[in-house]
Amino acid sequence: MYGTAIVLHTLVTAPLALGAALRPRLDNGVAKTPPMGWNTYNHYSCSPNETIVKSNAKALVDLGLADLGYRYVTTDCGWTVANRTADGSLTWNETLFPSGFPALGEYIHGLGLLFGVYEDAGIRSCQTNIEQAGSLYHESQDAALFTSWKIDALKYDNCFSDAASGYPNVNYEPSTSPSPRYANMTKALAAQNRSVLFQICEWGVDFPALWAPALGHTWRIGNDIIPAWRAIYRTLNQAVPQTSFAGPGQWPDLDMLEVGNNILTTAEEQTHFSLWAILKSPLVIGGALKDEVTSMNAESLAILSNKDVVSFNQDSLGVSATLKRRWSEEQYEVWSGPLSGGRTVAALINWADESRELTLNLADVGIQAARTLKDIWAGKTVGNVKSSYTATVAGHGVMLVELSDTTAAGTYPTAKFATTKGNSVTFGSIYANTTSANHTLLVTFSKSSTKATSITAESSSTKQKSTINVAASSRTASSSISLSAGSANTITISSTLPIDSIRIKSPTGTYYPSTAFTLAGSATLLQCGTGYCQPVGSKIGDLDSTNTAKITVPAAVSSTTSSKYVELDYINNDIAFSTSWGLGSNSRNITVSLNGGSPVRLEVPLSGRHSELFGPGLGWWDTSSLGVLIDGWKDGDNEVVVGNEAGSNAFQTWGADFVGLRVFD
Ligand SMILES: *[C@@H]1O[C@H](CO)[C@@H](O)[C@H](O)[C@H]1NC(C)=O
Ligand SMILES: *[C@@H]1O[C@H](CO)[C@@H](O)[C@H](O)[C@H]1NC(C)=O
Ligand SMILES: *[C@@H]1O[C@H](CO)[C@@H](O)[C@H](O)[C@H]1NC(C)=O
Ligand SMILES: *[C@@H]1O[C@H](CO)[C@@H](O)[C@H](O)[C@H]1NC(C)=O
Ligand SMILES: *[C@@H]1O[C@H](CO)[C@@H](O)[C@H](O)[C@H]1NC(C)=O
Ligand SMILES: *[C@@H]1O[C@H](CO)[C@@H](O)[C@H](O)[C@H]1NC(C)=O
Ligand SMILES: *[C@@H]1O[C@H](CO)[C@@H](O)[C@H](O)[C@H]1NC(C)=O
Ligand SMILES: *[C@@H]1O[C@H](CO)[C@@H](O)[C@H](O)[C@H]1NC(C)=O
Repeated sequence: MYGTAIVLHTLVTAPLALGAALRPRLDNGVAKTPPMGWNTYNHYSCSPNETIVKSNAKALVDLGLADLGYRYVTTDCGWTVANRTADGSLTWNETLFPSGFPALGEYIHGLGLLFGVYEDAGIRSCQTNIEQAGSLYHESQDAALFTSWKIDALKYDNCFSDAASGYPNVNYEPSTSPSPRYANMTKALAAQNRSVLFQICEWGVDFPALWAPALGHTWRIGNDIIPAWRAIYRTLNQAVPQTSFAGPGQWPDLDMLEVGNNILTTAEEQTHFSLWAILKSPLVIGGALKDEVTSMNAESLAILSNKDVVSFNQDSLGVSATLKRRWSEEQYEVWSGPLSGGRTVAALINWADESRELTLNLADVGIQAARTLKDIWAGKTVGNVKSSYTATVAGHGVMLVELSDTTAAGTYPTAKFATTKGNSVTFGSIYANTTSANHTLLVTFSKSSTKATSITAESSSTKQKSTINVAASSRTASSSISLSAGSANTITISSTLPIDSIRIKSPTGTYYPSTAFTLAGSATLLQCGTGYCQPVGSKIGDLDSTNTAKITVPAAVSSTTSSKYVELDYINNDIAFSTSWGLGSNSRNITVSLNGGSPVRLEVPLSGRHSELFGPGLGWWDTSSLGVLIDGWKDGDNEVVVGNEAGSNAFQTWGADFVGLRVFD
């Protein structure tokens, strides 16, 4: 779905090529599937202690979570002290951990769990009120110490790390990449005789997806999750351009879970957990499972314990779901990805506050029919689903479905989709993503024709019969056919030859590059480096409510109005770093208005797949695409205006940059 074939190619091969070139990679058999566990931070902040780590570790076992795969128990910031011992060793805070870290490790191992520690690739770790020593320049000594304690995981943070600016707590725009500091710890760990899960946590600075897989097993894609619902949208918008980097041994880390912290509603927790799972993020519980005063509520525990969702995360294929479509004004979107055994998982998020009926068009996730659809949170299984599935989705909730035994989008077997009356076969639930007379109908007969013949086909869209010639000794015949956007189309074919199936192909559409648009106000056409801003090589920037780009698009429309699918090629690398605590959303709006009508708004996620600090175009040359359905096309010339009409009273005045659009006519 994202970008052109050329863009996708670079996307898929780049991390592999880098992985082969950069050594040492900690390719130690760890994290073949995303790591799962528990961490102190989201609930206890930088104030861990022995009692809570032990009681929560024990709860992982007692509550059956360890059996589901939650095994890494990591004590986050706050465990160490300001000053190293006389021989330069790190040590634990004895008030908080009276038995010591080696004993804590033994306790965790005794439960059959794995022992994780936290340190920092800076001179101090991220604790602002109480000073804590960091591992920078002590990598070998600390790696040796940690492995002598028999650790299984190291989460490695990024505070007080930028030498060039005097080691401030955070610097989101360092003059050098964090990667050499992480590489030093990789080397130090690789020199030890122990397989350690290395979790890179530098908040997405310098687009780590391009270098972190060569150094560790997981990398945080962005800044910290915050205890608020809006963090889910912000995080997903940042995940979009790097879903293709996920794979065995290398997982984009969307940050620890807020499930069970009594911040999100049950529906919100289901959405959060479902999306983290299908995007193959590590699943690290950040809620208190059990301590002297807290035990996790039953609803949250049931979410974390959902075997289907955990199995989607741990699936042997290791392929992340990707964003397929987003309806910004209507407030919902669809993600999906493949699972082993030819299955598909799809998630439809209801961003609206209210519960409502929403429809998943199976074609949006590459499927026309499924013999079995398992609706995970509704707890029901439906058979023989054709073209779409509709269900009630709670406000901020998710429809999460597993589809098995599926037929590819565009294929309609007679046995599944048609009713037959004599020589007349009527196919129902025919889906089209655009209204056009330019769809292709391909008919496949059960056996070849003996002599040349003809059949007729009639679509519910025009009610006009068209004649299709069938050559002698042929098993197929094709013609163009008119269909309306949606899945309510029917096609009736009269044929003396029995029909096995039909296939529908959408029109390829017409592309309108940014270079062909007329600019208004300060909207600017910007040239990109060779091979970037695909497929045009340039883009239009500085779009807002008055600075816009316009073009005239001819259309052939038979009914009075018509809806057409339009694919927008956009660029956005407006990353929420310091704004991530507030309203930063990693998104920008872009609007398209047709013939002066009210604009269709698409709030686009990040598209940058290069470093925002040092990469080509600072990550502002990487195109992605998303489709929108635009109503109100008329026969003849149509005026299309691209801008950001929502800009004047929104969080971000500027729209996304615009590369071009394709009208599926
Ligand atoms: C450990 O932390 C918990 C939760 O903050 C607190 O209730 C408890 O008093 C602490 N125990 C010690 C020994 O510090
Ligand atoms: C250990 O932790 C306690 C509680 O946070 C703190 O008061 C104390 O200063 C710490 N000790 C050291 C040596 O950092
Ligand atoms: C750490 O050592 C420095 C320098 O020796 C000293 O000034 C500081 O007070 C020490 N900090 C703690 C918390 O002991
Ligand atoms: C990495 O380690 C080497 C050798 O100890 C050292 O010279 C270099 O400065 C370190 N790099 C960083 C970025 O800390
Ligand atoms: C490495 O660890 C293995 C098992 O943990 C042990 O059998 C082996 O002796 C160790 N090798 C060295 C060089 O310490
Ligand atoms: C079909 O596609 C062609 C080429 O893209 C275009 O010229 C024509 O107008 C389209 N016809 C209709 C009815 O949309
Ligand atoms: C809509 O149809 C076009 C043309 O076949 C296709 O490229 C595109 O992927 C479709 N979009 C969706 C979301 O199904
Ligand atoms: C996009 O537009 C919506 C509706 O006007 C607005 O609520 C939202 O803040 C905008 N997003 C950004 C990033 O400006």
